[in-house]
Amino acid sequence: MYNVLVTKKLPGNWIDYLKKECNVMLWEDIYPPSKEWILQNIEDKDGALITLTEKIDKEIIDHAKKLKVISTYSVGYDHIDVKYARSKGIIVTYTPEVLTDATADLIFGLLISVARRVCEGDSLIRKGEWKTPWYPTFMLGTEVYGKTLGIIGMGRIGKALVKRAKGFDMKVIYNSRRKHEDIDAEYVDLDYLLENSDYVVIAVDLNESTYHMMNEDKLRRMKKSAFLINASRGQVIDEKALIKALQEGWIRGVGLDVFEREPLPKDSPLLKLNNVVLTPHLGSATIETRDKMAEIAVKNLLLALKGDKPIYEVR
Ligand code: DGY
Repeated sequence: MYNVLVTKKLPGNWIDYLKKECNVMLWEDIYPPSKEWILQNIEDKDGALITLTEKIDKEIIDHAKKLKVISTYSVGYDHIDVKYARSKGIIVTYTPEVLTDATADLIFGLLISVARRVCEGDSLIRKGEWKTPWYPTFMLGTEVYGKTLGIIGMGRIGKALVKRAKGFDMKVIYNSRRKHEDIDAEYVDLDYLLENSDYVVIAVDLNESTYHMMNEDKLRRMKKSAFLINASRGQVIDEKALIKALQEGWIRGVGLDVFEREPLPKDSPLLKLNNVVLTPHLGSATIETRDKMAEIAVKNLLLALKGDKPIYEVR
């Protein structure tokens, strides 16, 4: 039997599946365990199955004397010092692909919601403020159909967005580390993308080069009529600059699923703005996807523990 640490309960029967071959030490709460708890319990573990709320840094890795694998229940792995883990011979695995479509759907949901003022309208009705019968200039939004979508980052999620955009007859332009031949979209440089898109969607990983990539200068380049959508990581946008951009009208609106601090603090100025649609990090949050993520995370862990090739390893 392998000794493993699991930092969250998982959907389905995947923890029981793991228990057939492992002694599982499970953190049962929905709040993340403290760093101290991880430090106290990781020393004799062969494997760890974690989520994006557990930061696995050098100190934890140094404590994990027997650790062979860190399996994260997420596509993002910015919460793990992957380079250091790998230098210690620890395999890091993740759960891409299975969440691509769910995340792309949510991004489109945010895009349509902010453009067509869906949440604003919903909240107006709930507050009892829908007082006038239909009239031609009431709550006008912006069209999605036929507009230009600029995608920053062309990985799996970027490509899933291209497919969806085609259904809306959108022109798609993109910027990424390299050109992609297999998509119906035009490669452009980042500034051109920002200056010419009606909708800008961020679909990059968080790393040193993407931290605060949407800063004041980049936000000022966007059209005043444009919308920004982010469901990757909050730290890709300089949130202070974004708030200024929204307050001063440099852009028309924003759809956000991720934030620099999560949960979003109650005093965030974002909460006071109408041209903002907010969701609490729900990109992959469907019953089907979260179950598949559990299957992949558990199987990745077991395969790596047995010395076999995991389904998805971070390289
Ligand atoms: C991830 O997987 O990295 C998402 O942020 C949550 O599913």
